[in-house]
Amino acid sequence: MKVLVAYYSRTNVTKKVGDAIAKSLNADVEEITSTVKYEGKIGYARAGKDAMGEKIIKLGALKYNPSDYDLVYLGAPVWVGKAANPILSYIKQNEGKFNDVKFFATAGSRDFDKIFKQMQDYVGKAPQKTLELTTKEVKKGEFEEKLSSFIN
Ligand SMILES: Cc1cc2nc3c(=O)[nH]c(=O)nc-3n(C[C@H](O)[C@H](O)[C@H](O)COP(=O)(O)O)c2cc1C
Repeated sequence: MKVLVAYYSRTNVTKKVGDAIAKSLNADVEEITSTVKYEGKIGYARAGKDAMGEKIIKLGALKYNPSDYDLVYLGAPVWVGKAANPILSYIKQNEGKFNDVKFFATAGSRDFDKIFKQMQDYVGKAPQKTLELTTKEVKKGEFEEKLSSFIN
């Protein structure tokens, strides 16, 4: 089975999870980048505003075509109770190209269900499974068990 792990990560927390999934499954990795600057303090404010408005933005160049994969893992951080808009932009840019999907997300504390619902609406299909992790769990490296049941 061909597997792709596609994620957006502003401060490398979601990246840590995505890379661990990819390593376990020997999957290809699409690290989604934004042409809009979300780094730093000004970027933080912009990120909140753009996520709130579900702003579709121009992404950096992509390496892979999701339709070449049986399963695509889609990952993003929660921004203001919404999915970080770069992941929504990615889904939109690849509309109709997803076979099966699984979703993973990281957040300071909450709103996972909301963003999984939002991602599902954009993809147009329900995920096989979802994985939610707090920033703290990821930073401490305390997610091996949850990861294992997510990828199996
Ligand atoms: C603009 C912005 C808004 C955020 N809003 C929320 C939120 O509503 N709820 C929450 O639990 N965490 C929120 N966070 C925290 C991030 O979801 C969390 O730090 C995440 O693990 C960062 O992942 P990353 O390093 O992959 O970007 C927000 C972070 C940013 C930058």
